[in-house]
Amino acid sequence: MSLVEDLERLEQTAHERIESATTAEQLEAARVALLGRKGQLTDMMHMMGSLSPEERPAVGKRANELRRLIEGMIERSSQSLAEVARQNLISREAVDISLPGVRPVIGHQHLISSILEEIEDIFCGMGYTVEYGRHVETTYYNFTALNAPEDHPSRSARDTFYVVDNAVGTADHAEAHARGESDILLRTQTSGQQVHALENEKPPIYMISPGTVYRPDTPDACHLPQFNQVEGLVVDEGITFGDLKGTLDTFIRAMFGEDRKTRYRPHFFPFTEPSCEVDVSCNVCHGKGCSFCKHSGWIEILGCGMVDPNVLEMSGVDSEKYTGFAFGIGAERVAALRYDLPDLRALMTGDMRFLAQF
Ligand code: DAH
Repeated sequence: MSLVEDLERLEQTAHERIESATTAEQLEAARVALLGRKGQLTDMMHMMGSLSPEERPAVGKRANELRRLIEGMIERSSQSLAEVARQNLISREAVDISLPGVRPVIGHQHLISSILEEIEDIFCGMGYTVEYGRHVETTYYNFTALNAPEDHPSRSARDTFYVVDNAVGTADHAEAHARGESDILLRTQTSGQQVHALENEKPPIYMISPGTVYRPDTPDACHLPQFNQVEGLVVDEGITFGDLKGTLDTFIRAMFGEDRKTRYRPHFFPFTEPSCEVDVSCNVCHGKGCSFCKHSGWIEILGCGMVDPNVLEMSGVDSEKYTGFAFGIGAERVAALRYDLPDLRALMTGDMRFLAQF
């Protein structure tokens, strides 16, 4: 068979190989097989040496034409493969801007945070400052300087989370306390901030202190081991029980509504004398009595009293010159009353279905 015929057949083969290549790799393999150093066309060129001098020019010309033809075919195929790849990429990565977006989940302010802010707003409106105390306290600030006796039950490890437990309740411990040594605890009340204010500021003092407190209680519908209080302290010249009542009535009406009645019930707190608990008229039965208010017509909302002179003196404030009142509001209680919450544990879950309602 003649070399010319071989060349014709190679043109046919080249067409087929190049057209059937669907990737850049297949096309490169075709190029190597046809034009490479050991490729089919190269082989044929080598065989030209066996031709007669007359035949050589025409066959050589034909071989060169074929080389250019194949190179052109490969070039065109390579361009069209690149274009196909580009189109595939475009359609694969296309963004359909008409599709609805994925809405990011945004949180919601916690009910207790908004209650605390509301309480702060009411007292700031009456000229009070807001002070944030520390959650980890010493027994001195949490109990001793608040006039709580050494044997007060709330000091026991059953009622207080001690951070450094120095065998509370033992004789050694009582002796250490008699020497004035303090233990470290998670504050059980925000009242300790009264002592910090008395130590750090000069009267007149009008301050509130909101924040979390901790007690070893098993969570149930009405108790949480971690909850929030808003402490209040006023110390000035000539402060009377009338100021206390006027202030707290103003707060309660701003918080719960102008039509609310209040009741001041005598109670005991170590750091106030006299002390009382304040009840607000039930919003379900308006004082007639129902299951929500346990048929009393009233719901307890806060503790308060006139600051005990011992508390003022222990922190270096002249109790002959200054008098004052203090109060402690439970934020979860306020939330429960305002929104009729059946179970306080819902406040601890972080469940958006619950929180987004307020
Ligand atoms: N600290 C008290 C408690 O946790 C609440 C309280 C009562 C605070 C009377 C006061 C107060 O400032 O005067 O139960």
